[in-house]
Amino acid sequence: MDIGVPKEIKPQEGRVALMPADVARLVEKGHRVRIESTAGVASGASDQDYEAIGAEIVTMAEKLFKASQMIAKVKEIMPEEYGFLRPGQIIYSNLHTALNRDLTDQLLAGQVNSISAEDTHEDGSPNCPLAGEIGAFEGVRLCMAPHGGTGRHFMAHFGAPPLKALVIGLGAVGQGALRTLLRLGCSVTGFDIVARARKTSALTWASCDYRSAPVAEISGQLSHADLIVNCVLWPKHRSDHLISRGMLKSLKPTAAIVDISCDTAGAIETCRPTTWADPVYDVDGIRHFCVDNIPGAVPATASAGYSQAILPFITRIADHGLVAACKAEPWLAKGLTTHNGTLILPETARLQDRPFTPAEPYLDTL
Ligand SMILES: NC(=O)c1ccc[n+]([C@@H]2O[C@H](COP(=O)([O-])OP(=O)(O)OC[C@H]3O[C@@H](n4cnc5c(N)ncnc54)[C@H](O)[C@@H]3O)[C@@H](O)[C@H]2O)c1
Repeated sequence: MDIGVPKEIKPQEGRVALMPADVARLVEKGHRVRIESTAGVASGASDQDYEAIGAEIVTMAEKLFKASQMIAKVKEIMPEEYGFLRPGQIIYSNLHTALNRDLTDQLLAGQVNSISAEDTHEDGSPNCPLAGEIGAFEGVRLCMAPHGGTGRHFMAHFGAPPLKALVIGLGAVGQGALRTLLRLGCSVTGFDIVARARKTSALTWASCDYRSAPVAEISGQLSHADLIVNCVLWPKHRSDHLISRGMLKSLKPTAAIVDISCDTAGAIETCRPTTWADPVYDVDGIRHFCVDNIPGAVPATASAGYSQAILPFITRIADHGLVAACKAEPWLAKGLTTHNGTLILPETARLQDRPFTPAEPYLDTL
């Protein structure tokens, strides 16, 4: 199969979908892989590295899209790329179509066969732990006085207590946040609705200044916090919040919120996604950091994890075609988003109030 890997054009996004070692596996199986020139540079992979293992370097994105039966990407298709899509082409990327009606329209009208990579990870996305680790690291930075923070050091010194952080949601991202905060020496309270998640975290971090608590305790803890890190997977249809705008009044005026989940008006009412180019904004004097592609800050590490995670599915599709691959791999089918003009992904259909056919019955008809 002809596989294309374009250079990401989202601002401050340096990741690349396939690293040279993984491209080599595809080339060895007889597939032709084209890489857009400099696509891997920010991840530590030069054009020469790709050429050395048998990939072809293409200088223009349009040419690469035209020549490729399947495109492997990291971020959503940007409006500048819409014109490059063609009927029957397979797009494998983190598409996040649910809140992107425009992109969904393009994929459906253009008869593009798309897979949302973010829905295909059986063991969690490889970049989630990185998002938690880096998001918490940025939160610690925001606590320093020159950045407008409470001026509390992350370590306890001279009898002064360490930075106090609340981490909400103890899944893959939340564990990443705990790793950064607790290894730096912060005092952390972690919240989750699931008792098992609270118990596991308490056991894992028993030797640190860590306590798990039920979600009902969040409001009572706000006034003690220097930093709040939200890592909850919030259903996109919910209109209530864990921290409402009114509750910001309970925070110290120099406290900071890092919302890694970054759902617009999600678990934190005042959250809206931001970019690395302009990561922080104020609401009622409280700074919010809500960058929606946090792992993009560490492409040299993040690309390796993403590339390894998607290689088995990319190989299966390239070897057997998209339909056969989805029939054989239930986790791949979970990411099937559009196929021949039909919408498959339930969450996108529900949020956009569109008709859809779920993957299983749809695949049975093919
Ligand atoms: N900003 C970024 O760059 C970035 C990168 C990766 C992931 N994310 C986002 O981070 C979020 C978390 O991802 P994850 O992989 O850790 O998900 P996860 O499913 O592994 O963990 C989510 C946790 O939240 C808990 N939870 C759910 N509802 C809750 C509630 N009402 N109150 C308290 N806890 C609740 C769950 O029990 C679970 O432990 C997702 O929204 C994901 O899209 C953002």
